[in-house]
Formats: sequence, C-alpha cells, structure tokens
Amino acid sequence: MKTVLITGVHKGIGHALMETFLTKGFFVIGTFLRDRPEPHEYLKDVALDLGKPESIASCVSAITNVGKSIDILINNAGILADEKETQVIIDKLRKTLEVNLIGTIDFTQQLLPLMSEGSHIVNVSSTAGSLELVGKASHFPGHYPAYKISKAALNMYTRTLALELEDRGITVSSIHPGWTKTDMGGKEAEFTPEQAAEGIYRLAVSKLESGGFWFAGERLPW
Ligand SMILES: NC(=O)c1ccc[n+]([C@@H]2O[C@H](COP(=O)([O-])OP(=O)(O)OC[C@H]3O[C@@H](n4cnc5c(N)ncnc54)[C@H](OP(=O)(O)O)[C@@H]3O)[C@@H](O)[C@H]2O)c1
Repeated sequence: MKTVLITGVHKGIGHALMETFLTKGFFVIGTFLRDRPEPHEYLKDVALDLGKPESIASCVSAITNVGKSIDILINNAGILADEKETQVIIDKLRKTLEVNLIGTIDFTQQLLPLMSEGSHIVNVSSTAGSLELVGKASHFPGHYPAYKISKAALNMYTRTLALELEDRGITVSSIHPGWTKTDMGGKEAEFTPEQAAEGIYRLAVSKLESGGFWFAGERLPW
C-alpha cells in the first residue's frame, strides 16, 4: 500500500484529495489546522500549523512515528490573506509567506529523510504565481499581491528542490489546481474540489520531468 501525505485535509481541495487517494487505495497521512477530518481505517491525521515552527517539528515527529516512507507529498495547505488588496500590506505578506512559503519549505525539508526513492513532491501552486501570466490572467490581475508573491517563490522552491533531489530520483512539481469552488476560490469558481483533486491525483501518480509547473497534463509558463 502506497502512502501519501497531504497538508490541509479538513476542507477544500485537501479534503477532496484525501478522499480521492483513499478511494484509490492509498494510506493517507493528512494534516489539519483547526478541525480533524472524519476518521478512516487508512487515514492517520496529524495537527499542523505551518505558521509555527514548533508545530512543524512535532508534526514531523508524529509522522516519523507512523513508521512509513512517503511516496507522494502534497503541499496543499495555503492561505489567501490579501484577497481584496491591490497593494502589499506588510503584515499580510509576512503571514502569507510564513504559511505558503517558509512553513511549507521547513516542513518539506524535515520530511526529506522519509521520502522514498522515486517519490513525488507536489507543491500546490497557482497561475496567480506565474511571472508570465501576471496581469494577463482574466481573474483580478491587480489583486492579492502577497499571495502571488508567495506562489511565485514557491515555484522557485520547486525548481531548486528538483535540482537538490536529482540524485535521489525524487520528482518535484508545482501544480495549479484550477479555479476551484472552496472557501478560498469562492462559489463562482470553475471546478469542484473533486475535479481539482482528480487532476492533481493524475499528475501526482504520473512520471513527470522534475521541476515542472503543470495544469491538466500541460506545462504552464513560469
Ligand atoms: N481554490 C482555488 O481556486 C485555488 C486556485 C489556485 C490554487 N489554490 C491553492 O490550492 C490549495 C488549497 O486551496 P483551497 O482552495 O482548498 O483553500 P481552503 O479551502 O481555504 O483550504 C486551505 C487549507 O489549508 C489549511 N491551512 C490554512 N492555514 C494553515 C496553516 N497555517 N497551517 C496548516 N494548514 C493551514 C486549512 O486548514 P483549516 O481547514 O483548518 O482552515 C485548509 O485545510 C492552496 O495552496 C491554494 O493556494 C487554490
């Protein structure tokens, strides 16, 4: 039985990812911030606040104690703190980077010893973080700068980590889930969380060239 570790499984895309991977026969380790997900025979849930280094350390320790190597890590959890803003608010930038970037990197780096050979690290990014698409995207070109900065930097982490892990045969990818109906994406969004999860699942189990930025099987511009 393969093991997937997914952050933020209580709601949204993370919850749909948890259900998708359970249906496909994976053992799921899922992290939650506030509320635990519903129990399942093949689910181990662990508390994690990516904004707190001590929470990251205790989460990694609990995951290590599960005693499984990880075949797929999906860094799904993230925040959109400046949805309404068109200029950078420093407090919101700091909080956003703490969760979407620094906490995510800290968590990933501490988990590297548990990643199996041939495993896949998936960073859930966004077209909002694409340097090429910024301003061209049909949705709110001038809005949420802190979020955009965090996802652009996360994409660079995908590239640097891919190089770091070349010799271990571990693939690292950035994936855009699509504009999805969640608390973050809103009711008007294009995809259901289940559709987004299915797309991420397909990419996560595919053999991809490491260090890519993907959506629906196609490469996205950085
Ligand atoms: N929805 C979209 O249209 C869209 C588009 C592009 C990219 N994305 C990306 O897709 C991912 C999932 O988004 P979503 O739409 O499912 O958002 P969501 O419904 O707001 O869910 C976010 C998840 O992240 C968790 N989380 C928030 N802060 C955290 C922290 N400090 N530590 C650990 N976990 C934390 C939340 O936990 P709680 O349940 O406890 O709050 C929740 O499970 C994000 O990385 C987002 O940037 C989404």
